[in-house]
Amino acid sequence: MNAPMNQSDGELERAPVREPYRAGEEPLVRARRLSKRYGKGDGLVRAVDEVDLEVAAGEAVAVMGPSGCGKSTLLHLLGGLDRPSDGELWLGDRRIDQLSERKLAEMRRHDVGFVFQAFHLMDELTAQENVELPALLAGRSPRQARRRARALLEEVGLADRARHLPCALSGGQRQRVAIARALANEPRLVLADEPTGNLDSTATLEVLRLFERLHARGLTLVIVTHDERIAATADRLVSMRDGAFVDEMPLVGGTRGRLADLVGLGG
Ligand SMILES: Nc1ncnc2c1ncn2[C@@H]1O[C@H](COP(=O)(O)OP(=O)(O)OP(=O)(O)O)[C@@H](O)[C@H]1O
Ligand SMILES: [Mg+2]
Repeated sequence: MNAPMNQSDGELERAPVREPYRAGEEPLVRARRLSKRYGKGDGLVRAVDEVDLEVAAGEAVAVMGPSGCGKSTLLHLLGGLDRPSDGELWLGDRRIDQLSERKLAEMRRHDVGFVFQAFHLMDELTAQENVELPALLAGRSPRQARRRARALLEEVGLADRARHLPCALSGGQRQRVAIARALANEPRLVLADEPTGNLDSTATLEVLRLFERLHARGLTLVIVTHDERIAATADRLVSMRDGAFVDEMPLVGGTRGRLADLVGLGG
């Protein structure tokens, strides 16, 4: 079981504990010898080099590794922001590495949510409008988009900041808006690239708590991080070097439910 063993009192104890995924279950993400190369000859860079990866539905995978080892490139491939040079990639039962541009864009819009280190919110839109935007682009009615955005801002604890522009929000609040935006179309997969890289420890804790809650409810997550404490909250940790996976560690009995201890802030 992945249930935290020493769960402390309080709200987290009442949070639903997700069943860990089981080996042999259909993976949500499946990559086979996935590769991305840039340049050629002496300038050839193997940014992602024949990576095999499976992520089960409901699983949280952390990816760590030194700068330049290919973490962001891998996330971009998984989310269809970029195309592999070689290899196969599946999302559920659909092969996505060969989709047309139009189908790929549709897949990104409906099936994948991205969270970036630098938030990438639209500065001139309010928090509410930022969260509505992906739903509108996916063809929902303004009313549906509004209702969904409101519910998501409530969920991330920012209902009272809905009309604020990003410049009037703290870093942690901005990232929570970005997470709400990533969830706007109920994606099957959320990809986060250093989501706490620009945050102080209090905001890091807020964002971690949010991810933890979403994950406990079944969200499938691949999170790139330089922070071991964050990686420790995943179900599995993968280490990358020079475009390849060099180590993989299941985090059974995990640390979930003890985030506050992990980030050194106490209860
Ligand atoms: N568009 C590009 N053209 C050429 N080389 C690229 C391009 N994008 C990435 N690379 C190279 O691919 C390698 C992997 O880059 P990537 O951004 O995936 O690393 P990373 O692990 O995310 O690093 P960081 O931790 O610094 O974010 C690097 O050597 C980088 O220089
Ligand atoms: Mg990167």
